[in-house]
Amino acid sequence: MVQNVHAVQDLQTVKELPGGLQVLNELNVLNNLNQAKLLVEIQSVSKSFHKTFKESTMEIKALADVSLSIHENEFVSIIGPSGCGKTTLLKMIDGLIPYDSGRILIDGRQVTAPGPDRAVVFQAFALLPWRTVLANVEFSLELRRLPKEARTKTARDYLKRVGLSDFENHYPHELSGGMQQRAGLARALAVNPAILLMDEPFGAVDAQTRQLLQEELLELWQSQRKTVIFITHSMDEAVYLSDRVVVMTPRPGKVAEILDVPLPRPRVSGEVRRDGKFVDLTNYIWESLKKAMENHHLE
Ligand SMILES: Nc1ncnc2c1ncn2[C@@H]1O[C@H](COP(=O)(O)OP(=O)(O)OP(=O)(O)O)[C@@H](O)[C@H]1O
Ligand SMILES: [Mg+2]
Repeated sequence: MVQNVHAVQDLQTVKELPGGLQVLNELNVLNNLNQAKLLVEIQSVSKSFHKTFKESTMEIKALADVSLSIHENEFVSIIGPSGCGKTTLLKMIDGLIPYDSGRILIDGRQVTAPGPDRAVVFQAFALLPWRTVLANVEFSLELRRLPKEARTKTARDYLKRVGLSDFENHYPHELSGGMQQRAGLARALAVNPAILLMDEPFGAVDAQTRQLLQEELLELWQSQRKTVIFITHSMDEAVYLSDRVVVMTPRPGKVAEILDVPLPRPRVSGEVRRDGKFVDLTNYIWESLKKAMENHHLE
C-alpha cells in the first residue's frame, strides 16, 4: 500500500516534467506489464532433429537452452536468422511437436498437446483449397465441435472483422495474398484463443498490404486483448507491433537479447515510424542480429 502511494507521487512528479505525459504513458505500459500474470513460460528448452540418410544419422540442433517468459496480453516478436528454430519453437508452444529438455508452461501447466487456448497462423497461408473462405473459418470451429448454426454465425462475425464478408463464398485461389492472410487470421481468431501464435504471417504480401494488415492486427489485438507471439524477419514490423522483441542467434537458436519497445500505444503507423526511438531501436536490432551472426561464425 505504502509503495503504491510512492508510485502515485512519482507519477505526479513525472507528469509535471517537460514531455512528462509521454513518459507517464510509457510507465503505465510498464506498470501494466508488471501487474500482468505470466502466461507462457519457456524454461531452458532445447530441441534437436535427427535425419537418417542411408546408413548415417545426422543431428540438427535447432534450439539450445531457450528461456523466455511472456505476460498475459503481451505482444512479443521473435526475430532471428533463417533456420534458427523460430517455427520449431512456435510449434512446441502450440504442442504440435515435443521438446527434448526444459519445460514450456501455459498458465502454469506443462504443454503436452495443442489446446483451445492457442491458435496458430502459419508461415504459408495453410487454407484448405477445396473449401470456401467461410468453410475454412468454420473448419477450426468444427474441430471444437460447435453446432453448425453457431459455427456459421461465428465465422461470419470474424470474416467481417477482417473485412472479408463479401468473399465468404470464394475459394482461396480466388483471393489475393493479403486476403488469404486475413482469412487465415479470421480462422485463428474465430476459436477465441487466449494465445495467438503467428509465424511470419505477413511475409508473402506486398509492402502496402503488409502495413495495412499490421495496423488491423494491432486494432484486433487492442480490442480483443490476446497474448501474441509473432515471428518475423522484419525489424520494422517487430518494433511497430510489439511490447518486446526477442533477438535469436543462428542455429542452434538461443536468445541473444530481449528488448523493450518504449513506444506508447495506440501507435499510429506513420507517426511511430518517424519517431527517433523507433529508428534507434530498429537500427539496434539490426546491429544485434549482425553481432549474433558474427559471433556464430567465430564459434
Ligand atoms: N521436421 C523436421 N525434421 C528435421 N529437421 C527439421 C524439422 N523441422 C525443422 N528442422 C530443422 O530445424 C532447424 C530450424 O528450423 P525452423 O523451421 O524452426 O527454422 P526457422 O527459424 O523457422 O527458419 P525460417 O526463418 O527460415 O522460417 C532447421 O535446420 C531445419 O532444417
Ligand atoms: Mg520458420
